[in-house]
Amino acid sequence: MEIIRTIKGLDAVVADAREKGLSVGLVPTMGALHAGHRSLVDRARKENDIVVVSVFVNPTQFNNAEDLRTYPHTEDADAAMLEKCGVDFVFMPTPEEVYPEPDTRVFKLGPVAEVMEGAMRPGHFNGVAQIVSKLFAIVKPTRAYFGEKDFQQIAVIRRMVEIEGFDVKIVDCPIVREDDGLALSSRNVRLSAEARAVAPNIRRLLVASLDLKKQGYSPVEVARLTEDAINNVEGLETEYYQIVDAATMQPIMEWNQAGPRGAVGCVTVYCGGVRLIDNIRY
Ligand code: PAF
Repeated sequence: MEIIRTIKGLDAVVADAREKGLSVGLVPTMGALHAGHRSLVDRARKENDIVVVSVFVNPTQFNNAEDLRTYPHTEDADAAMLEKCGVDFVFMPTPEEVYPEPDTRVFKLGPVAEVMEGAMRPGHFNGVAQIVSKLFAIVKPTRAYFGEKDFQQIAVIRRMVEIEGFDVKIVDCPIVREDDGLALSSRNVRLSAEARAVAPNIRRLLVASLDLKKQGYSPVEVARLTEDAINNVEGLETEYYQIVDAATMQPIMEWNQAGPRGAVGCVTVYCGGVRLIDNIRY
């Protein structure tokens, strides 16, 4: 495994792979890697000749300076894990390497990026589009792998790919969970013991909400009842819970309003000061 710190270096190795006609799988990450990332890398390893993983805490997608300052950096452990997974190239650049000048590009991502995370974190998805488009432009991957925990992010990236015309297959990979149901996240390390103990209630109540649908409640009612149930757990406070079309991310009023990708409930919950997100398919 080779660690590459410059765009020029990355460009050279992937150009070489492409010249040889090899397929390239890209797994973009912000480091602090866990088993969720490992599942993306393992899938990329199975499906491609060459696997590139980027480890870069992208400043332009943080709309909160404190969140950026406290985001975990675990480069050595990340490199060790990626080596074990059989990754070929790890791209670990500095912010100055990626952004020698401020990136002023504004992506017209439209409604898919305006709701939920887009509404709560202004500028966040534009920052994601900036870094992912830069990575796609350099690596020109055959396939790129993203976790479904950030469900809306995948929809936004698909939109960015349409706008920019990248020839890449976006592969969405299922959420990996702890045994008690908590979705794996780099932010979980920030949970206190008390917060960690209540956090699995998020998944428990999302699963319970499937029954509400069976009982005949509408998407809006299921969302409201589930949000109330989460907020009734001491130590949990929702920012939003919305049931949306799984492709357009627009809220649905009736179950039959969801398109071919179905409906998904997306939640953001503050747990002991840590912002956790999760989702469930209906
Ligand atoms: O999901 C993430 O970790 C980030 O948003 C991504 C896609 C690596 C872009 O920085």
